[in-house]
Amino acid sequence: MKALILAGGKGTRLRPITFSMAKQLVPVANKPVLFYVLEAVAEAGIREVGMIVGDTAPEIQRAVGDGSRWGVHVTYIPQPEPLGLAHAVLTAEPYLKEEPFLMYLGDNIVTSSVKPLIEAFEQRKPNALILLAEVPNPQEFGVAELEGARVVRLVEKPKQPPSNLALVGVYLFDKHIFEAARAIKPSWRGELEITDAIQYLIDHGYTVEWKKISGWWKDTGSLDALLDANRLVLEDLQPYNYGTLEETQLHGRVAIGAGSVLKRCIVRGPAIIGANCYLEDCYIGSFTSIGDGVRLVSCEVEYSIILDGSCVEHVETRIEGSLLGKNVVVRGGARRPRTMRLMLGDSSLVETP
Ligand code: G1P
Repeated sequence: MKALILAGGKGTRLRPITFSMAKQLVPVANKPVLFYVLEAVAEAGIREVGMIVGDTAPEIQRAVGDGSRWGVHVTYIPQPEPLGLAHAVLTAEPYLKEEPFLMYLGDNIVTSSVKPLIEAFEQRKPNALILLAEVPNPQEFGVAELEGARVVRLVEKPKQPPSNLALVGVYLFDKHIFEAARAIKPSWRGELEITDAIQYLIDHGYTVEWKKISGWWKDTGSLDALLDANRLVLEDLQPYNYGTLEETQLHGRVAIGAGSVLKRCIVRGPAIIGANCYLEDCYIGSFTSIGDGVRLVSCEVEYSIILDGSCVEHVETRIEGSLLGKNVVVRGGARRPRTMRLMLGDSSLVETP
C-alpha cells in the first residue's frame, strides 16, 4: 500500500510563522510535525510515499529529502494551487493509480499506530475507512453523524455540529475516491473538500467504515493546538544532558543538547533545550521547547515554543503560551519612562492575556 502525505496548504492560522515556513515543518518538542507523520507511515510498513507539496515545496524537500532517513521512498507531487484535500487526491491520481492508499495530513500528529487501521481496511475491504475523535470544538473540523454503527453524514466545519466526533486527518481509500472527488463542487471556502467526497461515497452506496481513535490526536494548524501537541509529546520526554550547567537546578525531565550552557537557571521539566543555546538567570517552566542557538537572559518562559536562533533578554513578565519564530528578538530594559518598541511582521500578535 502507498501513502499520500499532504504537505501543501498555506497555514493561515499560524501566521506570521507560516509566512516564512511551511506549517508542517514547525517543530513540536524540537522535531518538525511532518517527521512524526513520516515515522507513523514507516512504522505502518509503508515504503512508497507520495507527498503533495505547494508553495513551500523547496523547504519540504530540503527537510525530507528522498525519505531514506525513514526507510521510505518519497515522490514529490506538486499541487499548483491549494484547492482542497480532494483536489490533492486528484492531483495524485497518476501516482496512486488504482491501488488503495493511506492518506495522512502532514500537520496531524496521532500517537497510536495506524497499522491496525490498515489491517482492518485490508480485511474488510470497505471503500473508505475514516478515523474519528471526540473533541470539545467540533465546529473547527469535519464532523461525522452516526446512526447506530453507520456513518450517515459528514459536514465540514459546521456551525451547529451534529456530534462531537471530528474527522482525524488520517484516511484509507480505494479507487472510488477519485470518482467522488471529480463529482463534487467546491465548498464555501472554495476548496474541494475530502469530507464532501466521502459524503458522495455514502450517498452512492459505497461502504464507508469508521473507527474511533485510541490515544491522542492533534491537528497542529493553530497556536493552541500546536502548544497542546508540544505538551503531549513532552509528557513522554526522555531526559538527557549534553550541555554545561553552572549553579543551575533541573527539576523533572529535562533534555539539553550539546554545546548549550545554562548559568544560574531553574528548569522545570518536561522541557527540551536544543544545541548551542546560552541561558543565564532564567526560569524555564514545564512544557517548553527551545530550539538550537537560542539566547535567553534574565527572563521566564513557560508552556511555549521558541525556534532556532531567537533571543529573549531582560523581560520581566513571564512569557507563556507563546510561539516565537526563528531569529526573533525580544529585549526589555529598566529605563524610565517604560516604553515598548516594536517591529512586528504582518499578522504578528502581542498581548497580555
Ligand atoms: C481538514 C479537513 C477536516 C479535518 C481536519 C483534520 O481541515 O478538511 O475535515 O477534520 O483537516 O485535521 P483543514 O485543516 O483543512 O481546515
